[in-house]
Amino acid sequence: MTGIDEFLINSARSVDQALDRLLPSEDLPPVRLHSAMRWSTFAGGKRFRPALVYASGRAFGVASERLDRIAAAVEMMHTFSLIHDDLPAMDDDDLRRGQPTCHRKFDEATAILAGDGLQSLAFKVILDDESLSDRVKLRLARGLADASGSPSGMVAGQQLDLDSEGTGATLDEIETIHSLKTGALIRYSSASAAVVAETDTAAISKFGDRLGLLFQITDDLLDVTRTSDELGKTAGKDEAANKATYPSILGIDGTRRLAADVCREALDALDSIDGDTEMFRGLCTKLVNRRS
Ligand code: IPE
Ligand code: IPE
Ligand code: MG
Ligand code: MG
Ligand code: MG
Repeated sequence: MTGIDEFLINSARSVDQALDRLLPSEDLPPVRLHSAMRWSTFAGGKRFRPALVYASGRAFGVASERLDRIAAAVEMMHTFSLIHDDLPAMDDDDLRRGQPTCHRKFDEATAILAGDGLQSLAFKVILDDESLSDRVKLRLARGLADASGSPSGMVAGQQLDLDSEGTGATLDEIETIHSLKTGALIRYSSASAAVVAETDTAAISKFGDRLGLLFQITDDLLDVTRTSDELGKTAGKDEAANKATYPSILGIDGTRRLAADVCREALDALDSIDGDTEMFRGLCTKLVNRRS
């Protein structure tokens, strides 16, 4: 097994343990809500954003145990975004992480509330982190709000994504949508340990920005090149919904070339960071070749 594969497995194990500790027990009322929160969280995601948090720890010299809560928080926020993304009013999906979506397994109201609960809990687990100073916690919480909300984060991107359906968006507009709906939380995750270490975040934010764009470029590619079984979510949905995607304008080969260019830009941004960026580099390369 390569170093990056082992790193991914260890990262997933650490964040899963933290999530299990931090999420309300299924026995605790309201049982239906807590079951839904746990259902979606543990349905089998790749844990890519937590891996970025731990890779950030490697680069900025922060021990991984000190990052468990931040890793859990970004995965909660991400899972919230997926639950709401799948709702009938948004992408209307039945399959997620190889399982029925939250609103399918439970019901729409429960899915909305499970997302709301995960979003709130993400902030609480950071603010309750006793290993961090108040100053760092505030910076992390504010950054998470920026990355997940509007106008600079995921919620803004999701609105633009919906607004752009069928409008024939330009390449610039697609980059904006992708950078907001997906890129912002990935950029935040990449920079998180630099915030903990109270060091400069400019170079790592540039890396995270490119990596986030790359993530959604490859997500759009997978939607047109892989099957639902391989993805654990319904393939071919973007074209059916007339979504603004790179493959719809550049085709598959053109989008692959763009992915390679954006990966190069991401790797270049790491050159000015002194710390150990090997895991960041590995994650970037993995993304270009990913199959799910
Ligand atoms: C899917 O994210 C949604 C996007 C932002 C493209 P992931 O591909 O990371 O989904 P999981 O967490 O592995 O299920
Ligand atoms: C979703 O983008 C980005 C989010 C903020 C959840 P997509 O709609 O392309 O994600 P998938 O393909 O359903 O996972
Ligand atoms: Mg969507
Ligand atoms: Mg979707
Ligand atoms: Mg997609």
